[in-house]
Amino acid sequence: VKPQTPETIIVEVREKVGLITLNRPKNLNALNRQLSVETMDALRAFDRDPQIGAIVITGSLRAFAAGADIEEMAEKNFTEFYMDDFLGEWDGMSKISKPVIAAVGGYALGGGCELAMMCDFIIAAEDAQFGQPEIKLGILPGIGGTQRLTRSVGKALAMDLCLTGRNISAQEAKDAGLVARVVPKEELLQVALEAAHTIAGYNAPAVKMAKAAVNAALETTLGEGLRQERLYFQASFATEGQKEGMNAFVKKRAPVFRNR
Ligand code: HXC
Repeated sequence: VKPQTPETIIVEVREKVGLITLNRPKNLNALNRQLSVETMDALRAFDRDPQIGAIVITGSLRAFAAGADIEEMAEKNFTEFYMDDFLGEWDGMSKISKPVIAAVGGYALGGGCELAMMCDFIIAAEDAQFGQPEIKLGILPGIGGTQRLTRSVGKALAMDLCLTGRNISAQEAKDAGLVARVVPKEELLQVALEAAHTIAGYNAPAVKMAKAAVNAALETTLGEGLRQERLYFQASFATEGQKEGMNAFVKKRAPVFRNR
């Protein structure tokens, strides 16, 4: 079956990096069902593709995404959502094993902020704004806003954002630990792609293990997380890339990783 060309996102390959650009500019990239399905399909395709080492998700400089699509949701009821498993497609994000960087310009609100938080780290343009304004619509976050936000910024700020619906700037988000880097907006995509290229140049199994090990820190106890880390560390010595990386260091040459 020939895959359909996506209509709500742009999918590109830049060397070893998969780039997904959310592309519903008239709605500030509001996450409707089609965009959710197309984005997850693109992520899964990149995750399966051995030529791809890292993935970047971005939007426009005006909006990464202004949330779930309010028009699409407005008239829905519980039974429809429940039977359709509304938003359930995003569960697939936790199965993506390659690093995913969110390059956030402009608004990352509601589901947009939540999508950014589902990525492995966030690089934000100086004028990016983050928030969980759902409370203003009579609802609350639904794809991780109360959970991932609390884990990354702590209870005080997470409560503030979820209960008042106010936005924070990129710099505040960085100070709070939500964002990894803040960059001038004209450099946003370039910096995110460079970070992704750097990652894609490393020993792919070690990259996959490092991502899994960091995620274990949020999903399990310290003792269990440390055990997983130790095993992943030991397992990295079963990869060709470990021999290459260490031999290259000893011989003072640049390593060439072949992803095994
Ligand atoms: C549908 C949206 C939208 C959204 C913006 N638009 N956000 N459409 N769903 N979430 C549309 C507007 O209706 C408008 O369409 C166009 O995009 C441009 O938006 P404006 O409001 O005219 O732009 P501006 O004045 O610059 O204001 C930007 C904004 C504002 C502050 C981001 O649009 C806004 O507050 N949006 C809603 C943010 C929000 O509440 N997000 C949470 C959604 S709930 P027209 O046709 O008029 O040009 C959610 C639930 C999460 O995310 C739970 C699971 C995902």
